Amino acid sequence: MRVTLILLALASMTACKQQANKAEEPAKPAALTWEGADYKDEAAKLAHGKRLAIIHDCTGCHGDNLQGLNVTADDPNYGDMNAPNVTLLMAKYSDDDFRKFIRSGVPKDGRDFWFMPVESFQFLSDADLDALIAYLRTFKPEGTQLPPIRKGKGFEKDVEHGLGNTKQQVARYQAESLPNLGQEHEWGRYLVSTTCTGCHNSQLQGYEGFTPNLDIAGTYSNEELTKLLTTGEGKTKKDLGMMSGIARNHFSHFTTKERAAVVGYVKARADAIEDQAHDGERD
Ligand code: HEC
Ligand code: HEC
Repeated sequence: MRVTLILLALASMTACKQQANKAEEPAKPAALTWEGADYKDEAAKLAHGKRLAIIHDCTGCHGDNLQGLNVTADDPNYGDMNAPNVTLLMAKYSDDDFRKFIRSGVPKDGRDFWFMPVESFQFLSDADLDALIAYLRTFKPEGTQLPPIRKGKGFEKDVEHGLGNTKQQVARYQAESLPNLGQEHEWGRYLVSTTCTGCHNSQLQGYEGFTPNLDIAGTYSNEELTKLLTTGEGKTKKDLGMMSGIARNHFSHFTTKERAAVVGYVKARADAIEDQAHDGERD
């Protein structure tokens, strides 16, 4: 599954439609962005974009210098998931083109597009996305371009098992979005939608053979989950492999408030599932 791919990406790294029609929708709380999206000057905007690029693993797959990596180099049977040299590609993208790409899962040249978790990135607010774009533009076009991705047997199998291209994934994640758990968890829901869903699926139900349903968070206290999302140390086992890596390298860049909101949402969802199960028993 793509899952393996992301795993490899991380290993090699060791290293809303929110804005939709404002007129029709009730005003959303201004807080539905990552913290720091209220940047007042260019330096603050770029710092915000950089933090988002780290949290969302752009540098994990495309390399620290964004000049590209074969994310599945360890598994030729899977294929070559070449995460291209972004510094060379940004010149071809206007800000508007880039927004369209992230909102739709279709790149500028219109080809079928795979593997990159655009299905989660699509939910980034305009202010967050603008900062990310500004940060990507600070990289001078340098280096050579990688060949297009090559789909090997492993990849084709994943596609047979339902891994859609990003356009399909983007649509599915919209149709099956995260449950609304009330106003107090709206911010957490936003933060979780752009990060955890990439690996834990659109409603945190997990991907078979890859990630657990995050109702497992019900077995964690708030403190334990906060610790996992800061240091990577798990409760069921200390070393959770890829999960520990992404927490240590990426989620450690959450602000304290962001992490609390993520923990609050994930725990509330786990509680809601448990309540439902008890209701079921009573029937
Ligand atoms: C899990 C690995 C992974 C992550 C994380 C990832 N990418 Fe990618 N990215 C890829 C791969 C693979 C491709 C090529 C996909 C294809 O050609 O079908 C790609 C392609 C691209 C492209 C080229 C689009 C085009 O027109 O060809 C851009 C730009 C890009 N990524 C930017 C980003 C940014 C910005 C982030 C972080 C928000 C990011 N990527 C995160 C793997 C990743
Ligand atoms: C790059 C993929 C990836 C991302 C992104 C990701 N996870 Fe995970 N997560 C995993 C994998 C893989 C496991 C299974 C680890 C294992 O059992 O060894 C896991 C397991 C977990 C567990 C269970 C730990 C246990 O004790 O068994 C929790 C809780 C969790 N993730 C929370 C989160 C939260 C919250 C987010 C978003 C902030 C998130 N994950 C984002 C890959 C990911």
